[in-house]
Amino acid sequence: MSINSEKDLAGLRKVGRVIARCLQYMQSKLEPGITTSELDALGGQFLSAHGARSAPKLTYNFPGHTCISVNEEAAHGIPGAKVLKAGDLVNIDVSAELDGYFADTGGSAIIPPESKLHLRICAVARKALESAMLEARAGVRLNRIGYAIEAEAVRNGFTVIENLGSHGVGRALHEEPGFIAGYYDKSDKRILQENQVITIEPFISSGAREVFENGDGWTLITNPGVFTAQYEHTLVITKGKPLIMTLPA
Ligand code: CO
Ligand code: CO
Repeated sequence: MSINSEKDLAGLRKVGRVIARCLQYMQSKLEPGITTSELDALGGQFLSAHGARSAPKLTYNFPGHTCISVNEEAAHGIPGAKVLKAGDLVNIDVSAELDGYFADTGGSAIIPPESKLHLRICAVARKALESAMLEARAGVRLNRIGYAIEAEAVRNGFTVIENLGSHGVGRALHEEPGFIAGYYDKSDKRILQENQVITIEPFISSGAREVFENGDGWTLITNPGVFTAQYEHTLVITKGKPLIMTLPA
């Protein structure tokens, strides 16, 4: 969507804050022994207590309130009986609708003890999000986002998952301008517009360039021993720095 009024901005900020706090809350509950469905239930309760509805459930009939992806799972993991353990890399992605506005956030976290590899992937994915946000402003090519993400990955000896990316959001979970690659696509001539609402969500991997579905209809995985980290914000594009909608405070 494109922000047309103060009301739009306030509506987007409101749902953005709810999901950012939901993500923070769920991350605070990460500990060995909790199952991903228990964690998801806490997230679901948090969303409904704040009047928000799970966007993947609403939009795609996803079998969970949030997506929880563990270790080799890169995205869209279905919450279930899996018991989390020390050393797991856990990505939680929270998106929701409130008063007709949709926002999307996510982040990876490690249950201690953290391996060096997991720490590095998470650090590079965070840095990639920061770098891409610095590039994202009205009037520049949209492919600057992928350029910045890929540069950060390559500089650190990592790869970008090419079939996962950022996207338009706001009045729907996924909307115009559509898929935004996490790598440099020089054929992409689209220009970022002032007031446009998009996510930026780099998927940085320790070696994979692609995810594939594991057979459950949802979960996107890489080969064993390969790990992926993702951090995501919902943003409003301006002539300067983008406005971050998905902050907890
Ligand atoms: Co997301
Ligand atoms: Co997203």
